[in-house]
Amino acid sequence: MKLKNVNYRLLDDNDFSEVASLIANDYLPNEPILITLNSTKKDAEKLTEIEVKPVLMLNASYGAFDTESGELVGISIVDIGKYKKSESHNSDVPLCIKQFIGIDEVLIGGSLKEYFGTNNYAYCSILCTKHEYTKQGIGTELLRRTNKNAKNKKCENICVITSSYYSEKIVRKIGYDSMITVDYKDYVDPSTGNKIYANIPSPHERITLWVKTFDENNGMKMKDVENFVSSDFNHS
Ligand SMILES: CC(C)(COP(=O)(O)OP(=O)(O)OC[C@H]1O[C@@H](n2cnc3c(N)ncnc32)[C@H](O)[C@@H]1OP(=O)(O)O)[C@@H](O)C(=O)NCCC(=O)NCCS
Repeated sequence: MKLKNVNYRLLDDNDFSEVASLIANDYLPNEPILITLNSTKKDAEKLTEIEVKPVLMLNASYGAFDTESGELVGISIVDIGKYKKSESHNSDVPLCIKQFIGIDEVLIGGSLKEYFGTNNYAYCSILCTKHEYTKQGIGTELLRRTNKNAKNKKCENICVITSSYYSEKIVRKIGYDSMITVDYKDYVDPSTGNKIYANIPSPHERITLWVKTFDENNGMKMKDVENFVSSDFNHS
């Protein structure tokens, strides 16, 4: 397979319609939960309105573009804590989108602001590479750049929720910590009481919340901090 050349840049409001079509044409038919929920393009439009529209102007989301055609072929959609307010409970939101966002809320246990105790976090809510461009490192590079940018913006943490075996490979490679996992076969949807993800296609098995902390002291385990302090005393 011939590797495609791509370049990367931050996205802004002007990219909205291209991002929306990537979500409808590539994210929707390939993201494990949306496949299982039989979501439609209309559902994808609603998801885009909730998850993408309010955050594109934050200078935190990245796009990968085919160098030859200029086409958008990959996205990392990122909220930096100030604008995201889940509208998933509104009555005009289709059930499958409520369920899709609902599992994130189960993992986080409320809002990310409460989870981190600060608004100063980054959250990558959508990672997607156009199908013909996958397996070439584009997803990994999008997340690496997203991380670097969040760190430059002085965010304290960045988190990603992985619903796919492939995105899990990416966060492991970059060095995120796994915080909480739910196995699809065990998950009970709060709105229906059903195990709606029991038949998610292989190799996807679970959804996991991953966090990377940029403050180095926070990243150390308490025991490491104690050892560090005592070895410091021993040397004096
Ligand atoms: C997940 C996704 C963004 C990965 O994009 P990508 O550009 O292929 O990412 P990378 O090339 O960096 O691949 C990461 C790893 O997954 C593997 N991978 C990606 N797609 C694969 C596929 N269809 N089959 C087998 N392996 C695959 C890569 O080979 C690589 O493995 P390695 O680390 O062992 O080399 C892409 O598959 C996608 O858009 N999926 C649909 C939407 C989705 O599920 N998003 C994630 C939700 S959190």
